[in-house]
This record gives sequence, C-alpha cells and structure tokens, in this order.
Amino acid sequence: MILIIDFGSQYNQLIARRVRESRIYCQIEPPGITVAEIKALRPEGIILSGGPASIYEKGAPRTDKNLFFLGIPVLGICYGFQFMVDALGGEVIRSEKREYGLARLDIRVKGSRLFDGIPVASNCWMSHGDRIGRLPDGFTVSASTANTEIAAAEDSAQRLYGLQFHPEVVHTAYGKRILENFLFGICRCEKSWTMKAFIQDAIDEIRNTTRGRGVILGLSGGVDSSVAAVLLNRAIGDSLTCVFVDNGLLRQGEAKKVREVFGRHFGMNLRFAKEGQRFLQRLKGVTDPERKRKIIGRTFIEVFDREASRITDAAFLAQGTLYPDLIESRSAFGGPSAVIKSHHNVGGLPKKMKLELIEPLKHLFKDEVRLLGKELGLPDELILRQPFPGPGLAVRIVGEVTPKRLSLLRKVDAILLEEIGKAGFYDTLWQSFAILLPIKSVGIMGDKRTYEHIVAIRAVTSEDAMTADWARLPHDLLGSLSNRIINEVRGVNRVVYDISSKPPATIEWE
Ligand code: XMP
Repeated sequence: MILIIDFGSQYNQLIARRVRESRIYCQIEPPGITVAEIKALRPEGIILSGGPASIYEKGAPRTDKNLFFLGIPVLGICYGFQFMVDALGGEVIRSEKREYGLARLDIRVKGSRLFDGIPVASNCWMSHGDRIGRLPDGFTVSASTANTEIAAAEDSAQRLYGLQFHPEVVHTAYGKRILENFLFGICRCEKSWTMKAFIQDAIDEIRNTTRGRGVILGLSGGVDSSVAAVLLNRAIGDSLTCVFVDNGLLRQGEAKKVREVFGRHFGMNLRFAKEGQRFLQRLKGVTDPERKRKIIGRTFIEVFDREASRITDAAFLAQGTLYPDLIESRSAFGGPSAVIKSHHNVGGLPKKMKLELIEPLKHLFKDEVRLLGKELGLPDELILRQPFPGPGLAVRIVGEVTPKRLSLLRKVDAILLEEIGKAGFYDTLWQSFAILLPIKSVGIMGDKRTYEHIVAIRAVTSEDAMTADWARLPHDLLGSLSNRIINEVRGVNRVVYDISSKPPATIEWE
C-alpha cells in the first residue's frame, strides 16, 4: 500500500485516484499520524501532499520527520517537498515570483528513476508561492523550469524525491508516468488492487468484526447503500436486515424495484416501512424548503429507529459511507462549509442509536463502488443510476407537497426518464429530472382556455455535483419531452427548460 500524508491540498483525492488507477491500494492520513502507526500500515511508499500553508508560518502542518529514516521511499509534492527540505536541514524561501499554471520542465540529470522514459523537456503544472532555496545534504537538482531552479530534486541513495510541480493533475504531461515510476520503479509496488481482491478482504473483515451479531442497514436504492447491502449480504447472509423506508416521496416504481432486486433476487432480509402517510401528514401546509428537509430528515430517523428497535439482535448499523466523505470529515483543514441545504442521507443520521458503525465502502471512491457493484452482480440499471436526493420528490415540488401534486410529478418524471433514456442521454448526464412549479399559466387545448401547471426540466452535466452546467440537450429531444408531458399528463400545459449553471444556482431547486 501507499500512504499519502494530507497537508491539505485541493488535489489530494486526485493523488489517491491516480494511485488507485495504477491498481495499488492507498490511504490518505492526516499529518498527525505517528511513526508507529506508519510502521503498522507497512507502506511500500509514502507521498507527502501539497498544501496551502507556508512551511515557516506558525501552525504550518508538520508530520514526524523520523518517517524519512524508515527506509521507505518518500515522494514530496509541492508543500510536501518543502516540508521534506525543511525537515532535513535545507531551506525554503518565499518566491518573488509566484508561479501558477503551465511551465516547461527541463530534466537535468540522466538516469533519475523518477524521470525514467520522460522527454528532456515537457510541460508541468505549477501552483506555488514558496520555493526551495537550498537543498539538504545528499540531494541533487533533477529538473528545473524557467522560474524555478529546483523544480525537482532527489537523494536517490535514501530514495527521497521531491517535486515542486503537481504530477497528479492532467496538465502535467508526464505526471502519470512520473507517479508510476515512483510506485513501480522506486517502491516496487505490485498491481494488486482489484475489486475481486477487495471483496475477499472486505468479507473477512466484516465477518471478523460482526462475529455472528446482527447488522441493520438503511437501504435507499441508491448506488452506495445498494452495493453495501449486497456486500454485507454476501458476507453474513441473514444476519443482515435491510430497512427500506418508503416515504411516499419516491419515483414511480421505485419501491417495487427495490423489493424485486433485494428481496426476491438477492433473497435479503428486507423490512419495508410503508410510511408515505406519516411523511405527507407532516408536510401538510409546509412550503419552506429547509423546513421540508428537516421534517423529512426527522421523520426518517423516527421510522428507522422504530424499525431498528424491532430487530432485537442488531449490534451494528451499516452505512454506505465513501472515501471522499471520510477524508472530508477527518481533514485537518476542510471544516464544514456553509450550510446551503440540510442534506439527508439514508443511514447518515441516526447518531443517537446505540449501535456500532460498520462502513464497508469507506475506503472506496464512487467509480470503485460501481465496479464493486458490478462484480457483486447488481444490475447496471442500479449501478449506473443518477443520484436522487434523500428528501425525494418533495424538494422537486416547489410549494406544498400534496398527494395530487406528487402523482402529477411522478408521471412527468417517468416520461422524462424514458425519453432521456431512449435518446441515449441518461448515462452522460449527471442528473435529469422535472420540477413542479407552484404557479399556473394560461394555455389553449382543443379550442378551450386552460389554466394549468408549469413543469420545469433540469438536466445537468457534472463531475462531482460541486459544480454543474445545464446540458445542451438537442432541441428535438426537448420538443418531444414537452409534447409528451403536456399531452399525457393531465394538469400540465407548459414546460420550461432550466438554463442555470451551478453556481450560482444549485442542481435541485430546493
Ligand atoms: P444541489 O442541489 O445542492 O445538489 O446542487 C447536489 C447533489 O446532491 C443531491 N442532493 C442530495 N442528496 N440527500 C442526498 O443524498 C439530500 O438531501 C440531497 N439534496 C441534494 C442532488 O440531487 C445533487 O446530485
């Protein structure tokens, strides 16, 4: 495995992704990790990440410098490199010129294992204010740019390497090769990280942890909880009970599908809590988006708690937490950002429950979870699903949520997904859905005046939901969507298309 020490760079997860893409397991740990803990992990190599701090600033993050004397190869990137230099007796100075963006990298040594197979001149991506003034004893400069004499350096005898630029971003032309040289050429890692291997390890670990005691899991039908459920089911069979809360805010056919796949196909213990009435009752008259979210979140916990207390032998609560959530929650730097919307995730909330947590996906990235799901035999339809918010259709009905309005939106949503799927756009879009607006407009149908609902269509592309752009769907597709919705869903006489990006808009309307 490769250990990545997190100095707070925005690119940290990218480093981890690159290592995983090379089929090597890696873990990101905060700088507070001790040398004893590092030894226990037995890493083949250590990567020190970049970060926003200056090494000579008060409170700049540091890690135990004894890690340089463990005989384990170390690669320092940007701030990680500066930390290495400072810790080993060199000097870091504030640069007069900040260097940001593309720079030409000139390799200055022959035979550097880190630069094996890389042309003498190529592009690299820089993003730094400070620079290395003097290298520690034993180090030599291995590459330079016009502004940065020491763009890379190494003490090859001790297998210590430093890069002032970022090999993990795609703009560094040979970044992937440089990382692979470190992983395979220098650390001698083997490509052992596959989902098959992961499944076996995960099953052993789940069995060792649970030792026959019961586990409950809140199943939402989304990718993460579904994959977690199937993995746990494979490991402990009937000791797992899944709880599916039908909050009455689901899409058409959703509850039925969950029953079919998990109950019938996988033969899981599935508790179905049909609680639409309860949720709708509490949402009566509520129009404020945050209040809706809070009510739904609270009601969910209540129902889930009740179901869980009926499973008397349960000792564990399983959650589909993913690696990015884990890194985020532990990061010394990334505190909680401003609350834009109170998010509600199935299983993410019942903190007061006296159950131990079990999070079998907590070291995986989203695309790895999809691969895992495939390997475990989940249908593509489930694995490649677009995200659906915990509060369901309630946050897509602007204004009050009533059974009538829900039923109308469900019909629209079903048509929309069918058309988007037929046109081959489902997989390329991050999300595509409809929103019911709280206003009516005048129309004409069969020579008669109508005064009916307006539906908005939202389709966005995105990498991670942090930013998004409205999808440039073909006009013909928008046309047929509008046609079908207005013709087939009674009560709608107008369809509009949302052309706002995120930011400043968000993906969901509420
Ligand atoms: P926004 O609307 O904030 O949404 O741009 C970003 C992504 O998060 C999804 N979303 C949620 N997911 N529980 C969830 O599990 C929630 O409460 C929730 N609210 C929004 C949204 O669909 C989009 O993919």
